[in-house]
Amino acid sequence: MADFKTSLEKTLLTAFADVTAYLPENDTTSLAIAEQINKAMIYPLESGGKRVRPWIVCLMAEACGTSARHPAVLSTAAALELVHTYSLVHDDLPCMDNDDFRRGKPTTHKVFGEANALLVGDALLTQAFAVLAQLADHGADARTALRCVEILSRNAGQRGMIAGQWLDLSQTNTTTNISWDMLKTIHNLKTGALLGCAFSLGLLVGCSLEPLGKFKTLTQKQLDELLMHAESAGQTAGLAFQIVDDVLDVTQNSILLGKTAGKDEQQNKLTAVKVLGLENATKRAEELTKQALNDIESLRTKLANLSGVSVSSGSFQPIYDFVSGLFMRTS
Ligand code: IPE
Ligand code: IPE
Ligand code: MG
Ligand code: MG
Ligand code: MG
Repeated sequence: MADFKTSLEKTLLTAFADVTAYLPENDTTSLAIAEQINKAMIYPLESGGKRVRPWIVCLMAEACGTSARHPAVLSTAAALELVHTYSLVHDDLPCMDNDDFRRGKPTTHKVFGEANALLVGDALLTQAFAVLAQLADHGADARTALRCVEILSRNAGQRGMIAGQWLDLSQTNTTTNISWDMLKTIHNLKTGALLGCAFSLGLLVGCSLEPLGKFKTLTQKQLDELLMHAESAGQTAGLAFQIVDDVLDVTQNSILLGKTAGKDEQQNKLTAVKVLGLENATKRAEELTKQALNDIESLRTKLANLSGVSVSSGSFQPIYDFVSGLFMRTS
């Protein structure tokens, strides 16, 4: 898996073209700007991120029998990380959470200015779909590539992360009493959606690229059913992940987090700690993690039953361990 990490980092950093190549030669002013554009695009991507979502894509693909080193798996994982990174660049802007520190470094807008950070986020988002459009060049069939586009755009967009971020902002600095159900909806959308699609994207490429056609007997309808199941299990893991993020904001320091600790209280953000209290929030995250693990286990059984192919629990063990590890960060 270590080589997956190296290849993923390379795929991420090479997603962008060298802008200087598109400029008139000998124009030193535009050359300097182009070099700044080149630097800005990769700045939020370089190091520091935990790469949780691409890891899940890779572990799910491996659980379905496809190597994480397959270029189409790598590209799918990278596309999701590009979207996640854009969401962080925008989340940190002064008009949103106004954060100065991210992934152990000053935020993109602190280094390149607010308007440029907005553009960096836009470029990361746009590039993600260019990467998916090229899946067909990496051994995926066109239908699989299109399904990946549909899954990522639905979860990132107005029916997913964007709606969650909007709701989150609408509940920032308010005195209204918020129910657990409302908070759950916000967390599911702002974080569960992108984490959920890490599971469905991983399953989709994992089942569609396997060279020996292990899951070729699955009909489109059966694959759809599995994808829905994977997405919902992943959403539960994502809900737990956001609760853990809320807990860590209170219990950890900025160096460990790589972002400003205590920021939620400072900004009067609506969090699981605010709604449930620290202890109950931790308990809820643990319960949800267990639920996510059960859901992933029933996904494995469903995959075996629908395909008629035996899927050992050993092949799913790395994904169980990874999801459990996400909760363990609280202890
Ligand atoms: C931060 O996500 C935002 C949330 C959805 C909680 P991560 O905790 O995955 O951040 P990185 O990618 O490691 O920086
Ligand atoms: C962000 O949630 C979720 C996103 C969609 C980016 P937070 O605002 O809690 O994330 P951090 O704490 O800034 O990483
Ligand atoms: Mg936020
Ligand atoms: Mg934030
Ligand atoms: Mg947070």
